[in-house]
Amino acid sequence: MEAPCSNLLHIQDSVTHDPVHAHPLLQDMDSYRKMYNESIKDGNAFWKRMAEELLTWFRPFERVCNVDLSDEDCAIPEDGCVSWFEGGRLNACYNAVDRHVINGRGKKVALLHEANEVGVCRKVTFETLLKCVSQVANALLSMSVRKGEVVTIYMPMIPETVYCMLGCARIGAVANLVFSGFSSSALATRLQSTRSRVLLTADRLNRGNRLVELMPVVKDALLVCPHVEYCVVYQNSDQSVPRDGLEIADQLTCQSHSSALSDLSNSMAGIVQNFHHLIFYDFTEWMGKERMYCPCEWMDSEDPLFVLYTSGSTGKPKGMIHTTGGYLVYASLTHKYLFKVREDDVYACMTDLGWITGHTYVVWGPLLNGTTTCMFESTPLYPNPCRYWDFVQRYKVNIFYTAPTAIRALMKYGESEVSKYDLSTLRVLGTVGEPISPSAWEWYYRVVGKGKCSIVDSYWMTESGGILLAPIPGVTPMKPGSCCLPFFGIKPALIDPNTGDELTSKGIKGVMCVSKPWPSMARGMHGDYKRFVCTYFEPYRRHFFTGDGAYLDKDGYFWITGRLDDVINVSGHRLSTAEIEASLASHGTCTDVAVIGIPHDIKGQSICAFCVPKRGYEFQENLTFELCQHVRRTIASMAMPDKLYLVPALPKTRSGKVMRRLLRKIAAFEFDSLGDISTLAEAEVIDQIISVVRRQGGHK
Ligand code: WT7
Repeated sequence: MEAPCSNLLHIQDSVTHDPVHAHPLLQDMDSYRKMYNESIKDGNAFWKRMAEELLTWFRPFERVCNVDLSDEDCAIPEDGCVSWFEGGRLNACYNAVDRHVINGRGKKVALLHEANEVGVCRKVTFETLLKCVSQVANALLSMSVRKGEVVTIYMPMIPETVYCMLGCARIGAVANLVFSGFSSSALATRLQSTRSRVLLTADRLNRGNRLVELMPVVKDALLVCPHVEYCVVYQNSDQSVPRDGLEIADQLTCQSHSSALSDLSNSMAGIVQNFHHLIFYDFTEWMGKERMYCPCEWMDSEDPLFVLYTSGSTGKPKGMIHTTGGYLVYASLTHKYLFKVREDDVYACMTDLGWITGHTYVVWGPLLNGTTTCMFESTPLYPNPCRYWDFVQRYKVNIFYTAPTAIRALMKYGESEVSKYDLSTLRVLGTVGEPISPSAWEWYYRVVGKGKCSIVDSYWMTESGGILLAPIPGVTPMKPGSCCLPFFGIKPALIDPNTGDELTSKGIKGVMCVSKPWPSMARGMHGDYKRFVCTYFEPYRRHFFTGDGAYLDKDGYFWITGRLDDVINVSGHRLSTAEIEASLASHGTCTDVAVIGIPHDIKGQSICAFCVPKRGYEFQENLTFELCQHVRRTIASMAMPDKLYLVPALPKTRSGKVMRRLLRKIAAFEFDSLGDISTLAEAEVIDQIISVVRRQGGHK
């Protein structure tokens, strides 16, 4: 990490009085402090007011939270069990779509989608969104999808994916999005652990120069998921007949032909086949035949809204559950305050829907607030590194939100690539996913924002549902590289990992925790409540454990120093070293494997693996390549090691624990500062590994 800079950036002071840059809801730091103090001192009153102001409730809630938030010292229950807005009934989709149409904003653009090719754009108004979502909801109902049932969505960045998310919410089904870059095994595990009957997917993923056929991936997953009854495929390619759909029919033993099949098999796009009890539909026809209105199912505040899998410190991904009332209140409030949204703004969060940022800040937050939200199907470097800036100029984007890894990648191409474009509409620039270095921050601020935009470095995670720490644009004086201060209702706590006590002085490092419940906390892990408690609430009693370390400076600003567990962050993607190790081990050719994250200029971290081949495999040609491919097949290409070293043994302590600290040093070529190696069982292993790394270093 670059040295924390202690100067507050006071540029905001000069722009807060400018009507264009002033925050519409908060005047200055005093108003922030006043509101923050209220949210902490009397959370009951604060959240009651917010929930009533922000959402339309079908039935009012009776109690704000199961923990009494009017008690300033209240903490998180030991079992992590919280409930918000109990007794209240509402529908997420109604709040995100219907009420804007009812309020006369039906003609406003809700979704602005740009496809992989520059300028290929679809605009979906709230009115149209209501119709499309209703059709999807009706189509799900016709497959007798019930309230509480999990529906798995494995789709690209297209409006149809949003129809599916909202359509599920409309009828009370629980959406389970699987990032479309995941492999068939990752998809299969997520289908299996949620026992999904329905899979909504597409035939192709268009991302930059890569056009990825999804059907072979889906087919492999379905082969091991006999519980899936329906597979609905959106045709995202220009081919009129998705070839692979028909191939699937050949490969899965075809039993009988349903009536649906005979209706649709002649149609150009229909890949409708029936094997066992699995039925394929063409997405457009599937929704197209339905009525354009579907009544909303009124949900209890604590009914689940979605489940989203994320990596943890063990090999098994965790399906985090988020519920309705609290999640929506927090998504709406954070989006409103932290992005300073105005009625006619164009807001662009450039992330995939398969991650939590896509859920909260592409879909739910902006749509609840009636904001025009952009969806971007391509990558920042396609067809050239000006893609983002062309996007901002073309759609007159006011608020732009991306990840530090993208900023670092674009910085490389220089300022001239940015200055060709008119970016004068921008007011707020957000970043998320990993710490942003002061130099990347400065570049974003000066080159992209021309020194006129606030940088919102937002710190949070899948489990928190929404942003925990960030500056309020136009209000909080910023510090490059710091995610600044807590949002309303968030009471951060830095804990001493050795004593478990809360650290109260400033200028210290500790474990980042949260000590009070907040509305959008995850409510559990799919099928494993024990692991939920054990991961987040047991490490530090009565606190939520984020997994990160942080530094609190003398001004009370937070600086996130990174993960404390075996989770690594590669280009903003959260990956588990244990999961990659499990994949390498399952290849069957190695006796021992260890995976570590090493610093990388653009990606933040890159993946480095050390594998000990079994006797007889040491000299197998291509073993390195095979192992990497195996990771790609079993997890995803983003999880493939950048470097994979075949070594004779791993450095272990006498009790058999792999000394990752040493591997990290060696992988970084820091051979001279290995530190204390006296606990090592076999010291000569180190020299052997060093010689392999020296020989192979720099190559895959
Ligand atoms: C982990 C969560 C929810 C955002 C997308 C990632 C890291 C996230 C920041 C930030 C420093 C950050 C943390 C966190 N992280 N934002 N602004 N500064 N680190 O969600 O995949 O659940 O990953 O991302 O390490 O624990 P996620």
